[in-house]
Amino acid sequence: MEYVIVDGRILERATAKVDIEDRGYQFGDGVYEVIRVYNGKMFTGKEHLNRLVESAEKIRMQLPYSPEQLEEKMEELIAKNELETGTVYMQFTRGTSPRNHVFPGADIAPTFVAYTRKVPRPEESMEKGVRAILDEDIRWLRCDIKSLNLLGNLLSKQKAAEAGCFEAILHRGEKVTEGSHSNISIIKDGVILTHPADNFILNGITRQKVLEICRNEQIPLEERAFTLDELSAADEVFSSGTTVEVMPVVEVDGKPVGNGEPGAVTRKLQALFKAEIERRCGKL
Ligand code: PDD
Repeated sequence: MEYVIVDGRILERATAKVDIEDRGYQFGDGVYEVIRVYNGKMFTGKEHLNRLVESAEKIRMQLPYSPEQLEEKMEELIAKNELETGTVYMQFTRGTSPRNHVFPGADIAPTFVAYTRKVPRPEESMEKGVRAILDEDIRWLRCDIKSLNLLGNLLSKQKAAEAGCFEAILHRGEKVTEGSHSNISIIKDGVILTHPADNFILNGITRQKVLEICRNEQIPLEERAFTLDELSAADEVFSSGTTVEVMPVVEVDGKPVGNGEPGAVTRKLQALFKAEIERRCGKL
């Protein structure tokens, strides 16, 4: 039996329903999070739940639960579904009310949905590396909000998938921003470069953890937007995100990155990231 949460209550998946006038369904008017689960434990759960609250505030939505209450609910759902390795997805929308661009009144409560999914660590891809394409970033100017509106991301990811690639690396003109579903960093002469956490990217929790690791290990890093030319001259490129951890990118638009193999710095970050997971969630 699979269980989900609808409006705070754990239900059987088959009985869960959302109204057709839910604002998430009609407008994409809501926010979400995806949290990794290893050995039945959430990895960086608090960080994700704090970002969920921040995303909600940025769209002027008040969540009816505190991060602590949400953490408890997610733990309950993970236990109920006996999830070992996977993800927990949760979203809040601005509730159900007759379709109108104006926000509904304070009497309309947000709709809260959550479910779990078994997802293995992508070990083979992490070992061999993945391919990416380049695509113009056509998204809105508040990519820092983890909003349900993902059309720009989907169009780019679909293009990548049709080209047999894992990710689309997005750029606004000459400047690289992030990936369609992950953050992108490059390494040149031992220095890590990644876009600063502003309105043009989602400040990935994985990105933040990787940067923290770099600071602790005295691996040089610069948070600044790099150009397409810098990307194509990079020694190493990697993508980072909840489901993909630290993923080497070995080819961009058909051209090998460095020697076409995952590089030494990316390998080191992968190992340090895995150690961080094991420190928090136990042996992988
Ligand atoms: N995506 N940038 C974008 C556009 C993303 O969609 C994601 C994550 C990230 C990485 O963020 P984090 O490290 O916090 O997962 C960056 C999630 C997993 C998704 O939409 O499924």
